[in-house]
Amino acid sequence: MKESQAYIERIKRVNRDFQRLDLAVDQSLSHLLAGQALLARRIEKDYDAERWEPYLRDLWFPVDIHASNILTIELPAREQFAPGQLLSLIGPVGQPFRFRQKLRNILLITYHSPPTPLLLMLPYLLERQVSVTMVLMGSARQYGTDHLPSEVEIIVAEDNLTWNDMVMTLGWADQVFAAVGPGDELSHFADIMRLMRDRRNEVPVNYAFGVLQRPLPCGVGACHACMLNLRGSQKLQCLDGPAFDLTTLRLN
Ligand code: FES
Repeated sequence: MKESQAYIERIKRVNRDFQRLDLAVDQSLSHLLAGQALLARRIEKDYDAERWEPYLRDLWFPVDIHASNILTIELPAREQFAPGQLLSLIGPVGQPFRFRQKLRNILLITYHSPPTPLLLMLPYLLERQVSVTMVLMGSARQYGTDHLPSEVEIIVAEDNLTWNDMVMTLGWADQVFAAVGPGDELSHFADIMRLMRDRRNEVPVNYAFGVLQRPLPCGVGACHACMLNLRGSQKLQCLDGPAFDLTTLRLN
């Protein structure tokens, strides 16, 4: 992990509520993998790189990598940016998602959160002919998906978090990744586990992963604000996450 500078090269609105920012970044960030994030701060021209500090930055999950030094970030359209804006970035933060070796079908769930932390995996999975289904639950149902690859099957869940063919979707998935919004994450993960347990005989280890997006005050393991209670241990979102096996998390 290191600090580098970047600037916004292009901004494009992708749906009613979200925009994409193409960032010209240091080449070291072009190897970032799905699951890894950046800690970002806007800076001015006279930014003193000698006096950088990690604290209280925004957590950004890139959604695409185009060329060796262009990363795309997706952010709410209400956040105002302009091309040319300089940024200080710290990254990569966190561990890449661990996919099963024999992965044919993957289920992505996004619950009260845009699917942003899950999007960087799409090019990797689609290139390997993995079938991808994305279920939008809660406020995520408002998320416009027209800009996502057409190969991704989109399901919008009902108010009670169910959808047609749910038993089949869950039975067919080799792996599940679920992103929930910051706030009541553990309750939301508990809802998702309940859904899966009601429709499968069991939820095995290494099957369903919860992806956390809590703000990371330091991002480097120093403040312990992102500590999580797992069965038998404690882990840090910034160093060990963002994805945790839902069978090991102590859920509400
Ligand atoms: S954010 Fe400080 S330890 Fe993780």
